[in-house]
Amino acid sequence: MRTTLIAGNWKMNGSRGRTRELIRAIIAGLPQSRGYEVVVCPSFVFLADAAGALEGSGVGLGAQNVCDQDQGAYTGEIAGDMLVELGCRWAIVGHSERRHLYGETNTLVASRFVAAQRHGLTPIFCVGEKLEERESGATEAILDEQLHAVFEQQGAQAFRSAIIAYEPVWAIGTGRTATAEQAQAAHAHIRGRVAEHDARAAAELQILYGGSVKPENARSLFAQPDVDGGLIGGASLQAQDFLAICHAGGPQ
Ligand code: 13P
Repeated sequence: MRTTLIAGNWKMNGSRGRTRELIRAIIAGLPQSRGYEVVVCPSFVFLADAAGALEGSGVGLGAQNVCDQDQGAYTGEIAGDMLVELGCRWAIVGHSERRHLYGETNTLVASRFVAAQRHGLTPIFCVGEKLEERESGATEAILDEQLHAVFEQQGAQAFRSAIIAYEPVWAIGTGRTATAEQAQAAHAHIRGRVAEHDARAAAELQILYGGSVKPENARSLFAQPDVDGGLIGGASLQAQDFLAICHAGGPQ
């Protein structure tokens, strides 16, 4: 039985005060005992503040990326050890904004995935196709390439300790959500591919959906058999919306 996970990707938003305030509001609105996991991923520079504010809450802390290297002359990068020291247990890798705005390749993303695991962080590995790729029927081929890069570097058991987030690029920040059926089809494809390498990992793997998840559509997405929660962008910046999405991850 897979636990539902709701993760907030705060992207490049907020301030120290806003980070603490948002965390306070989220903690206050979550039930003490809940059947789902909640993780927030603030900007790197607010991780220390966030870790303090989250203490004892049961809400997890994740980073928005991690360097593929362990230390040294990599200006502007953040090593896995540094994130662990700040209290992170998850790291997003391969977000479409990293891939498409900053040119991160499948190979680099896979190296970041490997580095996250090397440091004991659980990678939240983002995959997804662009609109033209979906329209030309290439969705599954794109997902396969993105997954293949990780198998190539980390081997058949790569997904024993990992999370995948399916985020169709055309649904991110656009208000255009994948239908529950589209999400389910992509998630089932991803799980099937992982199962070809490692059936146990595939059965236990949390596959999150991301892309314009809102309180209004969260429940139908999370009700799909292969959708194990969400990676939430814009709606995670408003405590009430994020909490409503979290509640949608609870018992139906
Ligand atoms: P939105 O929820 O704003 O579409 O962003 C999704 C996302 O990119 C999460 O990583």
